[in-house]
Amino acid sequence: MTALLTTQDVSRIVASIGLPAFLARMVDYLEADFRRWPDFDKCARVAAHSEVGVIELMPVSDASEYSFKYVNGHPKNTRRGLPTVMAFGVLADVETGEPTLLSELTLTTAMRTAATSVMAARPLARADARVMALIGNGAQSEFQALAFHHLMGIDELRLFDVDPRATDKLMAHLAGMPGLRAIRCASIAEAVRGADIVTTVTADKTNATILTADMLEPGMHINGIGGDCPGKTELAAGVLERARVFVEYEPQTRIEGDLQQMPASFAVTELWQVLTGAAEGRTCADEITVFDSVGFALEDYSALRLLRDCARELGLGAEVGLIPQLADPRDLYGHLTGGRAVARKVA
Ligand SMILES: NC(=O)c1ccc[n+]([C@@H]2O[C@H](COP(=O)([O-])OP(=O)(O)OC[C@H]3O[C@@H](n4cnc5c(N)ncnc54)[C@H](O)[C@@H]3O)[C@@H](O)[C@H]2O)c1
Repeated sequence: MTALLTTQDVSRIVASIGLPAFLARMVDYLEADFRRWPDFDKCARVAAHSEVGVIELMPVSDASEYSFKYVNGHPKNTRRGLPTVMAFGVLADVETGEPTLLSELTLTTAMRTAATSVMAARPLARADARVMALIGNGAQSEFQALAFHHLMGIDELRLFDVDPRATDKLMAHLAGMPGLRAIRCASIAEAVRGADIVTTVTADKTNATILTADMLEPGMHINGIGGDCPGKTELAAGVLERARVFVEYEPQTRIEGDLQQMPASFAVTELWQVLTGAAEGRTCADEITVFDSVGFALEDYSALRLLRDCARELGLGAEVGLIPQLADPRDLYGHLTGGRAVARKVA
């Protein structure tokens, strides 16, 4: 049987464990998997583009488990009452190919993306970072805000979105949170001024310039989330030129990240190298660092592992018959007829 986790199950898991503890555990799972990077069979995701968005499949596997995520990105969806990003995913046993878990991944993508941002920011941002600008206040933004508050010690958030209703929503969710000050800003430049970390998490299928080189200050860390598709970027090329740039999986980020604007010779460092000590993270207080995040399949593999473990611990989820349970594995037809070898005459 295959375990099934719905959006309600995932909400119950997070409610039981608490969001800060769940995010902290997600970072642990991500780090554990990124540290054994060479164990994984990796490829860039397979994308089907249309004029309004993209639908992607994201597979990865090691010797024992295989996972994939189905995810879309449709920036105009919110006008139709649908999220920009929707996802589900599967874990399967490499030994038999049997799918062991089918889970919602829309909520989970937001949490794994925020946890990945924290995993990157730990070695790349200044340890004394306390102020974060958050540009783009849509579906992902609360998760980024809370992950950086609870796990990185950010106590001031400077918010900007072209749609003031998005900032209203984010302000309402953050209101009254002890030790966290959220300030609405009138422009990107105002939000970014004096920030230690800048998170860009906007959605627009265009080469946007959310951040330009003149907005950079010594020691900033840029957590660039929304530039994640060909023709969809947030950081001006000048930002990348002035920074040391870190990526998840270089072949995918060259196609999809803000990095798509740069020549093939532009140097980047993969995050796993920093996490294993093979490469340096931040080297001095004045350095400008960029995490050019696009979202990589291994993050969903880690997230699915975490969901499975939490569901088992809490006794949540259901077992579903996604694959026929057969007394004789070669009698597939018998499953259709309930074991009776009766073929209906086709009229
Ligand atoms: N890197 C990753 O792993 C990863 C994971 C999930 C989502 N994403 C990306 O993150 C982005 C945000 O996703 P979401 O689910 O929050 O989308 P959303 O549509 O819910 O929110 C996006 C927000 O960006 C705002 N925006 C658009 N253009 C802007 C601009 N020029 N300046 C300021 N704000 C602007 C919109 O008004 C909206 O409120 C998307 O581009 C998505 O593809 C990346």
